[in-house]
Amino acid sequence: MKRYCCSLFILLSIYSSCLFAQQHMETKILGNAESVSKQNNVLVIKTKESEARIWIYSPTIIRVNISKVHSADTSFAVIQKPAEKLEYSESTNELLINTGSLKLSISKSPLRFSFYTTDNKVLSEDDARFGTNWQGTKVVNYRKLYKDEKFIGLGEKTGDLNRRGSSYINWNSDVPDHTPKSDPLYETFPFFVGLHNGLTYGLFFDNTHKSYFDFGASTDDTMSWFGADAGDMNYYFFGAQSVSKIIEDYTWLTGRMQMPPLWSLGYQQCRWSYMSAEEVLNIAETFHKEKIPADVIYCDIDYMDHYKIFTWNKTTFANPKAFIDQLKSMNFHLVTIVDPGIKVEPGYKQYDEGVAKNYFATYPNGEKYVGSVWPGRCHFPDFFRDDVRKWWGASFTALTEPGVEGFWNDMNEPAAWGQNIPSIVKFGDYYMPEVRNVYGMEMARATFEGTKKLLGNKRPFVLTRAAYSGTQRYSAVWTGDNSAYDAHMLLGQRLVNSLGITGMSLVGVDIGGFTGDPTPELMVRWNSLGVYTPMFRNHAMQGTKYREPWRWGKENEAIIKKDIEQRYKLLPYIYSGYYQSHQTGLPLSRTLAINYTQDTSVFNTKYQNQFLFGDALLVAPVESTRFTEDVYLPAGEWYRLSNGEKFTGSKAVHVEAPLNNLPVFVKAGGIIPMQNVIQSTNEKGDGILELNVWYGKEANSFVYYEDDGSSYNYENGEYYKREIYFDPAKSTISLSAVEGSFTSKYNKIKLVMHGFKGNIKTFKVNGKAVKIWPDAEHGTDYSLIDNNSKPIIIIY
Ligand code: GLC
Repeated sequence: MKRYCCSLFILLSIYSSCLFAQQHMETKILGNAESVSKQNNVLVIKTKESEARIWIYSPTIIRVNISKVHSADTSFAVIQKPAEKLEYSESTNELLINTGSLKLSISKSPLRFSFYTTDNKVLSEDDARFGTNWQGTKVVNYRKLYKDEKFIGLGEKTGDLNRRGSSYINWNSDVPDHTPKSDPLYETFPFFVGLHNGLTYGLFFDNTHKSYFDFGASTDDTMSWFGADAGDMNYYFFGAQSVSKIIEDYTWLTGRMQMPPLWSLGYQQCRWSYMSAEEVLNIAETFHKEKIPADVIYCDIDYMDHYKIFTWNKTTFANPKAFIDQLKSMNFHLVTIVDPGIKVEPGYKQYDEGVAKNYFATYPNGEKYVGSVWPGRCHFPDFFRDDVRKWWGASFTALTEPGVEGFWNDMNEPAAWGQNIPSIVKFGDYYMPEVRNVYGMEMARATFEGTKKLLGNKRPFVLTRAAYSGTQRYSAVWTGDNSAYDAHMLLGQRLVNSLGITGMSLVGVDIGGFTGDPTPELMVRWNSLGVYTPMFRNHAMQGTKYREPWRWGKENEAIIKKDIEQRYKLLPYIYSGYYQSHQTGLPLSRTLAINYTQDTSVFNTKYQNQFLFGDALLVAPVESTRFTEDVYLPAGEWYRLSNGEKFTGSKAVHVEAPLNNLPVFVKAGGIIPMQNVIQSTNEKGDGILELNVWYGKEANSFVYYEDDGSSYNYENGEYYKREIYFDPAKSTISLSAVEGSFTSKYNKIKLVMHGFKGNIKTFKVNGKAVKIWPDAEHGTDYSLIDNNSKPIIIIY
């Protein structure tokens, strides 16, 4: 018996080692083209084991999809259809597509893809040795790396502006306590821009599985690579020759933001948590008492009854309607948090409905998945289903009926304590690993679509923590649980700038840092940067010191207040900036790499946090412990916003940077519409639009845009839009005729001309001579002009 057992054991070991040998992962290469055909608008190339399909989406966008098994062709991100026509030529070794703006050359043996400009400069190409291949289900594309190649993009990723030499993983994760080096974070944007040899290209890898990007980090600088655990090698290649045009193309493909509610652009006060309606009202009242402008206040998880989504705590928030009415009477809009986890509790409406209708994620045997979050044991809605999204959207009546107008979607990576949602958890036909990276976006979509319906013609404000490419269509994002130290403030700025490249314009960070307590200096400095952050929200973790503007001593409060006032003055400019995002996808906060792509200094890690805020302003973030700073000013002339001092660019300048004066510069020729200080966006103000123009040697223009700030009437032409031109050669400023049927809330335009004295003697505004009139404030000159499409009258 013993001998028998022994031989059985030996046999079993041999068998299992054979099995092990067989399980070694095999690398499958793409191979050679065996057949080529055109099926309508798709070029189909078959190899022994796979099939490549190519579509043209626009003259500057070509899609390549390489797959072993072509399944349903769906995308959560892409909203466009390919062009109807595709033409190609074929020779013995090559297939060639020329769109007129971009060339794709496909070598047949082995099958490799190379993109060129139409004048035959190579933009990007497969690594000749490896191209695309598979290991098990994992698919990877290896690309040739050019000596001077830089990479920007990938959205919410830590590290430097230039991603060369770094590698990243996309796997939406709840990462409290993340550091300026952590990866992955909460969001997935598999889109980057490559720069080399004076050329630009973009690449969007539309694959929702866990994905990997390596920009020459571990390849001896010979190649870059990207891939995913499963799914297709499915990418869109962008060949436009400027970063802004590539962003325009990427957001054409994946959608652009709608106009946000104007109130969401004002100052936002948040905290985990204001514990009762009384406390929230107190905070709101203090803003009024201290005359600090604000528009938004938040309720974090404690407004709910035991953290049950779509409920109110019956004791501390006993009468939500009366509470919100009071907030409204003080011109505050309320935003409340919602998490995806529905508490397992029979008798709780959303639990009962979800169970009855089978709306929750399951295991393969049909059992509902349970993960623990704030409410304890939870089920997770399957946001990939239309009926579930509708149900979720309709559940917001509990919040919209009493008057909530903003909806903060959190914990939607999805987060469950322990972070390890099993791979066999199913959302309908999808297993978790396939759709984890899009769960947050689909939740934000359900929230946006549902609340938009419930609010009638009013714009909801939606904010989400987890996201995938395309989220800009539904929601703003913030960068999650940051920390109260300087490196995090600077990281936050890079994240905001990087998210801008991937189509997210309305982006915020927790001003002051979520965890830890900022020093008063850091709070003041971070708040001043908040003025130039697309979404200006102060937020902090439970247990930290209170963060509101008046908690930092009178002197600091005065600085914080002045900065918040500056945000309100800039709102006409900021709102026009969002119109630009809505129209072209160009973000409000722009890394300098967008406009000054070929200037290597902008990638210098010393200056990499600097950004343009809209068309005209350059902002240099400064640590809270430094009171002077080296700022790199790109080509052209620049004026310090605070005192009009003029600088010549293409060099670094050393400037004063006290806590009350963040280095902010205006580009010569810059046009910035401003207004007087108001206490909230609900206030009308003095009716004067202050049109600031800074003298420059080159002509410039600005699209001014205004609408009611709250409804969708702008979609039917109810807006006020006019272009403002400044032409130094002709000594003129002209305002185009008004487009749209909206009546501006500003009756008059006050023209404020900076730096004109000595440069121009006579000046005309829409054909009429204006006198250049000295003003006490750093030598500016101004005139008043009637607005609202009446003939322009200059008033001295
Ligand atoms: C998460 C969010 C944070 C929120 C907290 C409580 O950590 O990122 O912003 O305050 O949950 O809801």
